[in-house]
Amino acid sequence: MLAWSEEFSTGFALVDTQHRMLIDKINQLEQLLNGPPPPKQKYDELLGFLGSYVGTHFRFEEQCMEKAKCPVHEKNKQAHAAFLGVFAKFKEKYAAEGPKPELLKSLQNAAADWIRNHILSVDRELKKCQKS
Ligand SMILES: [Fe+2]
Repeated sequence: MLAWSEEFSTGFALVDTQHRMLIDKINQLEQLLNGPPPPKQKYDELLGFLGSYVGTHFRFEEQCMEKAKCPVHEKNKQAHAAFLGVFAKFKEKYAAEGPKPELLKSLQNAAADWIRNHILSVDRELKKCQKS
């Protein structure tokens, strides 16, 4: 389980709130995988929400970085595009293979690792770009 902590703080309340929501959804996926097999609809709903929320969050955060003239703005956009590529590939597989535990587990692991590393190495740079 991933837990939001102060070290993830970007100094932008809304960005942090969105990160908490993403972490929460990734943890919900882990919980579904660790419990008795749920109906496929549960995964459909969770993955559908995650997919659209990620898109909304990325766009919002990119605007924040652009406005704040954050030097890592381009790097952030590229990292987001790369993640969306991974997610799109996952969705194709999910559509073809259905809710296979190995497939869902690999997405869950990849998303948890990615968000943690990405927040710490890129998003946190927002803190330095805040207007004082
Ligand atoms: Fe980001």
